[in-house]
Amino acid sequence: MTDKKELKKKEPFLDVEAGQQTPDILRKPVRDYQWLRNPIVIVLQILILGLFCRFTLDQVHRSAQPDPVHKTFMGYLGSLEENYAGTWLKEYSNETQFPGTEANIKLANWTRDKFLEFGLEVETDLYTTYISYPVSQSLDLLSASNGSVVFKAALQEDILEEDPTSLKSVPAFLGYAASGDVVGEYIYCNYGTKEDFDTLAELGVNATDKIAVIRYGKIFRGLKVKFAQDFGFKAALLFTDPKDDGEVTEANGYKAYPEGIARNPSAIQRRSSQFLSVFPGDPTTPGYAIKPGENKTRSSPHLTTPRIPAIPVSYREVIPILQKLSGHGPKVESWPAGLVPGYDYASIGPNPNYKLHLTNEQDFNITNLYNVYGKIEGHKKDEVIIIGNHRDSWTPAAGDPHTGSAVLLEIARALGNLQKTGWKPQRTIMLASWDGEEYGLLGSTEFGEYNAHDLSKKTLAYFNMDVSAVGNILELGASPMLYEVLRSTADLLEYPGTDKTLYDHFKENTNDTFKSLGSGSYYTVFLDHLGIPSVDMGFTSNRTGPVYHYHSVYDSYHWIESLADPGFVFHNLMAKYVGLSVLKLSETKVYQMKASDYASEIQRLYEKVEVPKNWLSRTIGHCSKGGKLVDLLSDTEQNIISLKKAAISFDEEAVQLQTKYDNWDSLSWWEKLALQLKIVKTNRKLNYFERKFLNPDGLKDRPWFRHIIYVSGRYTGYAGQQLPGLVEPIEDNDYETFVRGLTFFNNVVNNLATSI
Ligand SMILES: *[C@@H]1O[C@H](CO)[C@@H](O)[C@H](O)[C@H]1NC(C)=O
Ligand SMILES: *[C@@H]1O[C@H](CO)[C@@H](O)[C@H](O)[C@H]1NC(C)=O
Ligand SMILES: *[C@@H]1O[C@H](CO)[C@@H](O)[C@H](O)[C@H]1NC(C)=O
Ligand SMILES: *[C@@H]1O[C@H](CO)[C@@H](O)[C@H](O)[C@H]1NC(C)=O
Ligand SMILES: *[C@@H]1O[C@H](CO)[C@@H](O)[C@H](O)[C@H]1NC(C)=O
Ligand SMILES: *[C@@H]1O[C@H](CO)[C@@H](O)[C@H](O)[C@H]1NC(C)=O
Ligand SMILES: *[C@@H]1O[C@H](CO)[C@@H](O)[C@H](O)[C@H]1NC(C)=O
Ligand SMILES: *[C@@H]1O[C@H](CO)[C@@H](O)[C@H](O)[C@H]1NC(C)=O
Ligand SMILES: [Zn+2]
Repeated sequence: MTDKKELKKKEPFLDVEAGQQTPDILRKPVRDYQWLRNPIVIVLQILILGLFCRFTLDQVHRSAQPDPVHKTFMGYLGSLEENYAGTWLKEYSNETQFPGTEANIKLANWTRDKFLEFGLEVETDLYTTYISYPVSQSLDLLSASNGSVVFKAALQEDILEEDPTSLKSVPAFLGYAASGDVVGEYIYCNYGTKEDFDTLAELGVNATDKIAVIRYGKIFRGLKVKFAQDFGFKAALLFTDPKDDGEVTEANGYKAYPEGIARNPSAIQRRSSQFLSVFPGDPTTPGYAIKPGENKTRSSPHLTTPRIPAIPVSYREVIPILQKLSGHGPKVESWPAGLVPGYDYASIGPNPNYKLHLTNEQDFNITNLYNVYGKIEGHKKDEVIIIGNHRDSWTPAAGDPHTGSAVLLEIARALGNLQKTGWKPQRTIMLASWDGEEYGLLGSTEFGEYNAHDLSKKTLAYFNMDVSAVGNILELGASPMLYEVLRSTADLLEYPGTDKTLYDHFKENTNDTFKSLGSGSYYTVFLDHLGIPSVDMGFTSNRTGPVYHYHSVYDSYHWIESLADPGFVFHNLMAKYVGLSVLKLSETKVYQMKASDYASEIQRLYEKVEVPKNWLSRTIGHCSKGGKLVDLLSDTEQNIISLKKAAISFDEEAVQLQTKYDNWDSLSWWEKLALQLKIVKTNRKLNYFERKFLNPDGLKDRPWFRHIIYVSGRYTGYAGQQLPGLVEPIEDNDYETFVRGLTFFNNVVNNLATSI
């Protein structure tokens, strides 16, 4: 352990899985440059560099000419006649893509072959993981008195003539939900949030032998199942309520898909019931990964997977079930209404005259995941930008993930074309097609855990492409390091059908505000676990646009082509947006990252933390210089202000360095040399800035999450929790943990303020 501490002091990255085998794409010798610091060597270096400066420095400079590269890249995606996104989307959304199945491996091969065709280097990277396959599900409403079936749910979407994807019937299941066959009375639990179960507890609800009926929405579905299990329910039934679609409902006069844009009432939402906020990835390998042929132990999956059965059901089929509860049991008048006719959304039940019979059978298997990578090696092999999206799906899904797969291939095509002109990027660009996301972010998490050491050193940024184009509204979540590059790139692009830029559109819709990243997609391991600046982006539907049939068979090619993105215009825009942003990061000499945006964001978040008044005068014990909490709080505030000042001047200097670099020819050789050295130092600081927010011990009770600014919300999953080390102890009324969290945070801020 002391070794690890030593290392931490020297290097801002965390040497988590040192010594593990790395995919070729990342494997490059990590050299120890200590000898370079020897004074004699330094003098020699200067002499040698002086002699060869004309040649070497100018050589390096000539290879960095970003603007023409941007133009040429845009050219390859420029005209919509040359837009292949629809072609790729059709190919990708042809079949269901369960991990380990023939169809999935075929599509992995197809993706690999496309990367090859475009001229990228390729690699297939396998992990063995624990997953579940659906075998059978059923749901019956029974008469309690004589056991006869009052209503039998089909658990299938309607087949629609217009939409060939609806012919492919897909089991209505939730990944990892336990197998089981249960009969019991049932209770309505609203959205199944922590507060909802607290409400049930106050009412004295006895869950023994009962089934929880829970509405989709607000939080990650796996946590609904977890809370139901923790409360003592023996099964959970999750249903979709179109009220949560907002304005566009049949009740408001919109027609349902396929005639119109409202939700089809038979749509079912599938996906994982994993407890995402505990840790993502393979439930049996927390913090590490296993490749085929490796003999490593697996732990019990139940830290993050349910012990109770759970299945999803459509709006149409939950109607007869919920109707039976009206007027039975206690009422919670504060719970919001939904659209089930004849149900008051307040009576929680049970109705002693009815029971549910719910079955779920799944096979739990160890299966190979196939990640596929395409790479364009840059002049700097050890500086990598990753763009990724998952390839697995449980229906022949178009929106999630394959709008992103199509965009990824368009970027690959354009970069490949660029490469064929003789261009080589400054930094390495890696495109990843991940497997196993729907089960709980398996493919990228295992990759991230396996290669933690290398990724921490070499990865500048991760761009996540899931659900890229299911509407026309840009949604953008990002690490503040990347705000600037995302804003300035959006300003270069036209918003379709207007004379506005994409950035104008973003500002109109969001007041220039980025979403905070939480979890729920594939950036999680990069940001929350490894501290790598990440972006999650996509075009989503507006409030009056077509309702997205998330994880239903109606998330189909037909739906995208006819309603969500006719002409694949927003696919094309997304390919340009991501491609250009990545090129800006790759091609400019000084990284286009901004520490000052991060400092401002930290200040904003810190100001929102509401410390209980009665804590302020409490002492802080051994953790700090002594004194009261209020002193530590104001010390932290001062340090944040210092960080902001330091970051602003650091960023200004970085801009000046780039400007100087752009006027290369006017510099003398020693100015060139000094500039190069300064740039190396600046880039190094930018590269490691976000990494410094990692706490190697992780969060209390969930050590996998190590980022102290952004993590997955423990009670929400999808939605992010900012400053978890401060906010969560306040929620828990846990003073000691709060002081520890604040001390750590203050130290990080202070170190950054003095070192940047
Ligand atoms: C698409 O599906 C059809 C049959 O369902 C099959 O013949 C075809 O090969 C599939 N295409 C791909 C790329 O898998
Ligand atoms: C995928 O490609 C590998 C290597 O080329 C080949 O051995 C394998 O049979 C292919 N699998 C499928 C399902 O096409
Ligand atoms: C069972 O009871 C229900 C009332 O709960 C009644 O409608 C139904 O006819 C009964 N079925 C049989 C087979 O007795
Ligand atoms: C809850 O219900 C079960 C079964 O109906 C019963 O055995 C148990 O005693 C009840 N618990 C409480 C606290 O009432
Ligand atoms: C795997 O490791 C276990 C102990 O860790 C050992 O007992 C077993 O023989 C190993 N199996 C193989 C195939 O190496
Ligand atoms: C999963 O495991 C079961 C046995 O538990 C086996 O029957 C089934 O074929 C396996 N499924 C797959 C897809 O490997
Ligand atoms: C937009 O953001 C600015 C600056 O952050 C703020 O002053 C303003 O109140 C915001 N406007 C709205 C409508 O939220
Ligand atoms: C929402 O999107 C639809 C098309 O999908 C468009 O017709 C409508 O004008 C948009 N509304 C707003 C407020 O942007
Ligand atoms: Zn997805």
